[in-house]
Amino acid sequence: MTGTNELVLAKRDLEKKGFLDIEVDPSLDLEAEIERLKKEKNAIILAHYYQESEIQDIADYIGDSLGLSQKAASTDADIIVFAGVHFMAETAKMLSPDKKVLLPDLKAGCSLADACPPHLFKKFKEQHPDAVVVSYINCTAELKTLTDICCTSTNSVDIINSIPRDKEIIFAPDKNLGAYLQEKTGRDLILWNGSCMVHEVFSNEKITKLQMQHPEAKLIAHPECEAHILDKADYIGSTSGLLKYTKDSESDTFIVATEVGILHQMELGSPEKTFIPAPPNNQCACNECPHMKRNTMEKLYLCMKYENPEVNLPEWVIEKGVKSIEKMLEISEKAGLGLKD
Ligand code: 13P
Ligand code: SF4
Repeated sequence: MTGTNELVLAKRDLEKKGFLDIEVDPSLDLEAEIERLKKEKNAIILAHYYQESEIQDIADYIGDSLGLSQKAASTDADIIVFAGVHFMAETAKMLSPDKKVLLPDLKAGCSLADACPPHLFKKFKEQHPDAVVVSYINCTAELKTLTDICCTSTNSVDIINSIPRDKEIIFAPDKNLGAYLQEKTGRDLILWNGSCMVHEVFSNEKITKLQMQHPEAKLIAHPECEAHILDKADYIGSTSGLLKYTKDSESDTFIVATEVGILHQMELGSPEKTFIPAPPNNQCACNECPHMKRNTMEKLYLCMKYENPEVNLPEWVIEKGVKSIEKMLEISEKAGLGLKD
């Protein structure tokens, strides 16, 4: 079953149960209720940096895709509540299949995962039968079953470098991260043509104007951005890499080319510094990920109370797909990447 079919079926199931109509009493202290449910159910809340700040504040762990998967693999909680998007919750389920994995809104998808339907990718892969398949973790669980090694933006260079130089490599689904990796590693990658809807809308022109207004500012960018933005950047890295750079840097102003949710931790980590979100090329709030922002405190509370929506996967998908994630975690550990605590 593809991730999308699974989402549709799960949503229908929730509609039947009337779950989607439940309203939360506005006088409820959601923070206190969520804390109570965490203890009562031995649940852990894992949140990505792109979540609303109030969700980040109540999370037990906030991190990038690598840190979140490492935490999901090592937790002794009975329930993992994933404040992130669907592929992240699926990854947690694959790594901890005996645990209950909850996602506050099942429709929190990802444009990158959607850009690579497994049935089409299978045909693409057949054209390069000897190639090693490296997939960005932002893909469906089913795509992971067609993958040799997963990667995240934190470990992608190490993953590519771990593959013998005489091997062909297919890289999916992000063509921007793929192009960046070609430049960083000097490897010729066979790229799938996908991209992130948030990271491809930054305006070169508006960033240049901002740089003229703030000549002291460092431009920092996520590698999912297009090449013309990365070419101008002073630093390129994953969300945790960008956060660390702002803490360690002597500069006090940063133009941040990634989803705006990360600014919350940047401001908490360096309250004396100034962070300017890189503007999108139109008037919309396109530098906010609409999928990540589907999660709200109300939905977080409801999913913990009713232990629903739950993310489940067919056994064969878990068995086959988890190997690509385990391989990634093994290489990351050898490279000393990820969780420090
Ligand atoms: P990282 O947090 O791993 O850098 O990934 C960014 C992202 O787009 C997650 O969807
Ligand atoms: Fe997917 Fe982009 Fe949203 Fe990350 S920011 S979840 S890559 S759509």
